[in-house]
Amino acid sequence: MAFADYQNEIYLDGLRGVTPRLPMTFAELEPPALAALTPSVRSYVAGGAGDEHTQRANAGAFEEWGLIPRMLVGAKDRDLSVDLFGMRLPSPLFMAPVGVIGLCAQDGHGDLATARAAARTGVPMVASTLTVDPMEEVAAEFGDTPGFFQLYTPTDRELAESLVQRAEAAGFKGIVVTLDTWITGWRPRDLAASNFPQLRGHCLANYTSDPVFRSRLAKSPEDDPSAAVLHWALTFGNPLTWDDLPWLRSLTDLPLILKGICHPDDARRAKDAGADGIYCSNHGGRQANGGLPALHCLPGVVEAAGDLPVLFDSGVRSGSDVVKALALGARAVGIGRPYAYGLALDGADGIVHVLRTLLAEADLLMAVDGYPTLADLTPDALRHLR
Ligand SMILES: Cc1cc2nc3c(=O)[nH]c(=O)nc-3n(C[C@H](O)[C@H](O)[C@H](O)COP(=O)(O)O)c2cc1C
Repeated sequence: MAFADYQNEIYLDGLRGVTPRLPMTFAELEPPALAALTPSVRSYVAGGAGDEHTQRANAGAFEEWGLIPRMLVGAKDRDLSVDLFGMRLPSPLFMAPVGVIGLCAQDGHGDLATARAAARTGVPMVASTLTVDPMEEVAAEFGDTPGFFQLYTPTDRELAESLVQRAEAAGFKGIVVTLDTWITGWRPRDLAASNFPQLRGHCLANYTSDPVFRSRLAKSPEDDPSAAVLHWALTFGNPLTWDDLPWLRSLTDLPLILKGICHPDDARRAKDAGADGIYCSNHGGRQANGGLPALHCLPGVVEAAGDLPVLFDSGVRSGSDVVKALALGARAVGIGRPYAYGLALDGADGIVHVLRTLLAEADLLMAVDGYPTLADLTPDALRHLR
């Protein structure tokens, strides 16, 4: 697949007077997308922890690295395809799990739109535990693109087991366990509006459709929604320790990927505990302020992970960011807020546009700078500015 072709399409459309409906950069995408969201979803999506220093630093960290162009490479044909857990994917991009992505769509079914965008682009979706539509309905929209299920591990182990079994049955190809969100970080924007969508009953479909969850309630969630929300709040966050890893590992034969790993020692322990993949991320700065930009953590995690693939997200805003993360050792790069904003503006088409712009820019960068394959992108391709 030639991702750079998106450029030709756009210029050729221009010859018949057609210009892109959506902005071409994140900076221009964000304001209209935020304006398209309701105030409560806007603060939830755009906001982060504390004064959002870490959130800003995540994106800023990419500017500290520069790519060195190499000449006379003849990088006419590029190959951005990647092996991930035994699957060959057309590109190293994936869509990071975004709970409330359902609410970012104008029709309120953003999980389904995201899954459809995955089917159209070959870019996998990591579906959050927190969705408007149940995971089975989301997975049914994936087409030939593999999907991953992100688990927020509840304190009720049987519920966790049920969620994982349902994900397996629905055809998900891996389980991503998020470790950094068993408690919600301090988020001033949401606090100022006293707004937490799940406590208002949003995005709980995977719970209310779950037989184990339902069996814990005196009345069905349809008959007593408040009791269902209260039960959800009481069981949502499990402060897991390393002692829980064997149990987590035992839940599935699917690839198990641990999300939120930023310290090399944690990467080593995850590997020893049988994880199949390490997901280096600081949750986009939404959970803990005052941390390092996730990009700074990536090289150490990659080194500690050895032969395990490292997935990365937090602050990726452009094709050049994608290329830099790959050069620093990420096997696959997660897109977060940018696809949520594409969705807010133009549904599945908006997501497809955002993903295609990122891929086209990355592909063209590899052409111009003379790095035709992902294997050519090593730390040697980069210099730190300081
Ligand atoms: C609105 C929103 C909701 C999120 N929900 C989840 C979630 O349900 N599960 C999860 O593991 N990560 C969640 N994340 C974190 C993302 O997976 C990813 O780590 C983050 O968006 C990366 O930062 P960036 O969007 O600034 O690039 C969420 C992020 C946002 C913006």
